[in-house]
Amino acid sequence: MRSAHQSPSETPIIPVIAIDGPAGAGKSTLARDLAERLGMYHVDSGAFYRTITAWALKAHPQNPEKAITPAFLEQLDIPVAPYGRRIGPVNRQGQPLGTEIRTPEVNRWVSEISRHPRVREYVNARLRALAVRWPLVIDGRDIGTAVFPDAPVKFFITCDPHVRAQRRLAEMRQAAGAAPLDEKAVLENILKRDRIDSQRATAPLKQAPDAFVIDTTHLDRTAQLEKAVEYIRQKAPFLLAGRSR
Ligand code: DC
Repeated sequence: MRSAHQSPSETPIIPVIAIDGPAGAGKSTLARDLAERLGMYHVDSGAFYRTITAWALKAHPQNPEKAITPAFLEQLDIPVAPYGRRIGPVNRQGQPLGTEIRTPEVNRWVSEISRHPRVREYVNARLRALAVRWPLVIDGRDIGTAVFPDAPVKFFITCDPHVRAQRRLAEMRQAAGAAPLDEKAVLENILKRDRIDSQRATAPLKQAPDAFVIDTTHLDRTAQLEKAVEYIRQKAPFLLAGRSR
């Protein structure tokens, strides 16, 4: 399939920025900030895998993998809509899915569910269809390696696992008002997901050879954005054209 940025030169090129890395490294925050800065749209591909996991959990609370059948996949139709500078799964009222796809249960199962090749095919098809219409900053695990291997800009975000656990915990506290888990449990979940995401057979978490690496362990949000923008200025200055630099 031809992706948006591979169009022949006479047709408009819609750019994709790919941001990959392990859980909690800061991909989504950077993706959101870049989308704002460049006038693009942020897609959190993990939200698709989380939505499928939440739905599978409804059908089989004890073992959601049992829900991943050909019939389930055939009927799968996640409603997606733009909201602000973001595009992603929404509920029947058109509201973006939030805390319901970030529960401890979804965290517990999402890596297992996203291992299934048919689940991945579904999400990838949805992402590629969005990229035909919108300029996107997409964050995930395999965006620069498998979904958009020709993306003109790719980032790979890394961060010390302890710092990642602390950030995730802070996010969860903010979302829920209180932390449902302690740091040790969050760290264990992060490390387990890293292991499954990196070792799965289909499209594992892996740095693309042409990705620019940003280690966010000692960088605050502004410094991360500036580092990314500086790289874009050199690699793909057309993305900054007409923007305040
Ligand atoms: O980014 P996140 O933690 O919300 O992602 C949740 C899970 O979804 C992650 O553990 C693995 C899976 N995922 C994936 O396999 N591929 C992607 N492109 C994005 C997420």
